[in-house]
Amino acid sequence: MRLGFIGTGTITAHIVRGLQGSALADWPVVLSPRNTEIAAALATLPRVTVAASNQAVVDACDIVILAVRPQIAEDVLSGLRIGPDQLVISLIAGLHLPQIAALTGAARIARAIPLPFVEQRQGVTPVYPADPTALRLFAALGTALPVDDLAAYDAYAAASALMGSYFGILETARGWMVGQGLPAEAATSYLRGLFGSLGDVLRASDANFASLRADHSTRGGLNEMVFDRFAAAGATTALETALTAAFNRVQGRAE
Ligand SMILES: NC(=O)c1ccc[n+]([C@@H]2O[C@H](COP(=O)([O-])OP(=O)(O)OC[C@H]3O[C@@H](n4cnc5c(N)ncnc54)[C@H](OP(=O)(O)O)[C@@H]3O)[C@@H](O)[C@H]2O)c1
Repeated sequence: MRLGFIGTGTITAHIVRGLQGSALADWPVVLSPRNTEIAAALATLPRVTVAASNQAVVDACDIVILAVRPQIAEDVLSGLRIGPDQLVISLIAGLHLPQIAALTGAARIARAIPLPFVEQRQGVTPVYPADPTALRLFAALGTALPVDDLAAYDAYAAASALMGSYFGILETARGWMVGQGLPAEAATSYLRGLFGSLGDVLRASDANFASLRADHSTRGGLNEMVFDRFAAAGATTALETALTAAFNRVQGRAE
């Protein structure tokens, strides 16, 4: 299979690097010329080339991955002509299958939510609908999650937007620690170790989250107190509200 990318930015770079050394390392990759710097860097990898235009990418490939930002998607996609046998995999948040079909003429379309961890082939990538070729691609980059229901796919999309908040919690905790007089490097290094270890626990355990919270909270102790205060101050409700806003956005509903 020849794999083409329309939009050579952050997520394309993660996918292309992840493919190197994967089970699909022999699939040729063709990149669109923008961003020139990223395209040039990726073109130093084996079997990766840069085409002269977006349409030249489409014309050279069996699978076309759409990886431009949502704000310019309509402009870029309306300039493409995609054949009925070509598979389109759109990574563009909030752009629905009928819109992609209408803009490009494509007949085989799937959507996917790869995250940067595909580069280490540890991505967990929802794919909607469950196109077998799209599943094969993302299975080579970690785990592919077949999704048959749009609302479920949009819930994954909203949950995928928790990455910024995860680091935002670390940023807030670090700032608070520094406010208590700790050197910034000490606070950073402590939190890096703590959250890194929690990530290891999460990956290794199949216990549910309530049990993990209980296991990491002495009854009547500080962990229990911090979560109770955090929730009582509205933090868990705020999280649900934010997720609902992200869900509404990907569903195309005004807030
Ligand atoms: N980053 C993630 O983790 C992630 C995860 C899942 C899905 N996505 C989705 O993937 C899409 C891309 O995200 P990203 O983070 O990779 O964004 P990004 O880094 O901004 O990449 C977008 C790329 O599109 C290029 N571009 C701009 N105009 C173009 C045109 N007319 N034709 C072709 N390419 C053009 C940009 O080039 P210039 O730099 O020259 O403008 C840039 O290389 C978004 O829709 C996003 O929702 C991202």
